[in-house]
Amino acid sequence: MDKYELIATTTFGVESIVKQEVKDLGYDIKEVKNGKIVFTGDEKAICRANIWLRSAERVLLKIGEFPATDFDQLYESCKSLPWSEYLPEDASFPVTGKSVKSELHHVPSCQSIVKKAIVDNMQNKYKKKWFDEDGPEYKIEVALLKDEATLTIDTSGWGLHKRGYRDLTTKAPLQETIAAAMIYLSRWDKDRILIDPFCGSGTILISAALLGIKNIYGSDKDKKSIIYTQNNFNWLIRNSNISLNKAKFFRSDVRKISQNTNQKFNLIVTEPYLGPLKIKKQDVDQQINKLSELYLKAFKEFKHILSKKGKIVIIFPVFDFDKRHFLPILKDLNKMGWKQEFDFSTLSNYKNHLSKRNTLLYFRLNQEVLREVLIFHYNK
Ligand SMILES: C[S@@+](CC[C@H](N)C(=O)[O-])C[C@H]1O[C@@H](n2cnc3c(N)ncnc32)[C@H](O)[C@@H]1O
Repeated sequence: MDKYELIATTTFGVESIVKQEVKDLGYDIKEVKNGKIVFTGDEKAICRANIWLRSAERVLLKIGEFPATDFDQLYESCKSLPWSEYLPEDASFPVTGKSVKSELHHVPSCQSIVKKAIVDNMQNKYKKKWFDEDGPEYKIEVALLKDEATLTIDTSGWGLHKRGYRDLTTKAPLQETIAAAMIYLSRWDKDRILIDPFCGSGTILISAALLGIKNIYGSDKDKKSIIYTQNNFNWLIRNSNISLNKAKFFRSDVRKISQNTNQKFNLIVTEPYLGPLKIKKQDVDQQINKLSELYLKAFKEFKHILSKKGKIVIIFPVFDFDKRHFLPILKDLNKMGWKQEFDFSTLSNYKNHLSKRNTLLYFRLNQEVLREVLIFHYNK
């Protein structure tokens, strides 16, 4: 069987979770870099990786890698790659590009050169001059990093964080890849009872169901969110063969949740309200105060609904204008009996993705509000 080199791309910080997922699928890891897990596999691996990797963003098929400090080198090396083994005669093949710390830094030119090289290669193979490109799409990327070019074909279409059930989403749904990473951090097993008390459109709950957790609860203070979550679950159940013991969604302000359920939960995995999407620098202090109050009230309630030895995996906002502003409530939580856990061993070793208090920080480049994932248990 053919062995392909595949690259699972991930949000910075969750590399080792994806690495573990790839290993669990049975494939050999070649390399782990910032935001990338390189592994090898056959055609089936491409399909299985796309279906089963929960924490990755995309699966790219590597076509070639070579040094490129000038356009001639880029053109010649790219042209000599076996494109026609991958691209059918009618393929449409848009080329995107990026360049970091490289001589060839004008990305549009690199894209055009690569496009020309591939067309010239295909002309030789298919003995024709013009390609209509009216067939299936093969998205090609040329990525230059320190004068090394990597050519890939994207095998994931819209991306793994946009799986089919997301017809209904609230304003700012969590990336499914991060939701899955949080479930891993909770060290779940299938019989645990899980709740997301800020469930929004249910991303965390659906990731939990897909991973195999059978008892799933969600609540939110917003009526529409509960309807969306319910509808997303209906979709999931119609379109998959997952089986659940319990899936219950109810409306509740988190600050009163213990009055609205008698259930005890083993896992609370949640992305609370994190403030408005855009915020001005001068409003940060006020926002931090508001959110601190909400989080403290939520944790007060969590004490009543979490079972003994229960665990919380929760996202905190981090405002990162000039320096990192964390919610200043860890001491208060500690006094209330909440102990933080620092077992991020399923996560990356990259120091720059861990915050100064050793939690996972994840972010997209140029984002001002970062997110921090913390783990707690109650011990008083
Ligand atoms: C960041 S969103 C969660 C998004 C969710 N993870 C998803 O992917 O769809 C926060 C959610 O918290 C809800 N919320 C805000 N304040 C709340 C409160 N006091 N009690 C319960 N839910 C609240 C909002 O309605 C919103 O759906």
